[in-house]
Amino acid sequence: MIIAIDGPAGSGKSTVAKIVAKKLNFRYIDTGSMYRSIAWKSLQKNTALEDKEAVANIAFKTKIELVSSESGQLVFIDDENITDQLKMEIISRGAAIVAAQPIIREIMTTKQRQLGKQGKVVMDGRDIGTVVFPQADKKFFLDADPKERGRRRFIELKEKKQASDTDLSIIIEQVIQRDNEDRNRKIAPLKQAKDAILIDTTKLSIDQVVKKIITIINPGQKKI
Ligand code: DC
Repeated sequence: MIIAIDGPAGSGKSTVAKIVAKKLNFRYIDTGSMYRSIAWKSLQKNTALEDKEAVANIAFKTKIELVSSESGQLVFIDDENITDQLKMEIISRGAAIVAAQPIIREIMTTKQRQLGKQGKVVMDGRDIGTVVFPQADKKFFLDADPKERGRRRFIELKEKKQASDTDLSIIIEQVIQRDNEDRNRKIAPLKQAKDAILIDTTKLSIDQVVKKIITIINPGQKKI
């Protein structure tokens, strides 16, 4: 069984997907971390992210391992645990650039399909229900007001000491800009699959969103 959860940054999809996977005893896969990994490795190698050939070369050669742990998904690049570095703003920016490159998407989509083949997977991203697994058993599209999404991202960065109090409006702008890039790119743009269930999370708690999703997946089950 494959459960696809797509949506823009700050819609809550990663947090929700992680909890849903845990409740169902499924594997959680955060596909955004794969694009982030390529951006991270390219920056480490001082490669310009716009240099498609060089970035593709890096993507071919880089070993990306996603490891499930109690705290969530850990990311190892060529055996180095880089999980904590992936949420930095420079990586978010870089991931949006490399994610628009067709060859990178092809490599990542192949890896994601291989991971999904194992079954019992909750996969979150932007194109899981539309491109990676159009036949997914259940598809959800999470969305929220852009200001609220920016606020959530701000809190997340502040907790990691990667933002200060004055950064809120800048972060909202950055979230909106990246969304526009994700929605308007030519290949695999962020959009709701026709058969995906839309959940507006603006006024919902994480718990409420998780409950909605679990109820839809297991309609007969009262408690998990
Ligand atoms: O979910 P995230 O913020 O970690 O994603 C990082 C970037 O990668 C973001 O710009 C969207 C892109 N992405 C994508 O294009 N397709 C996916 N399946 C997952 C993420």
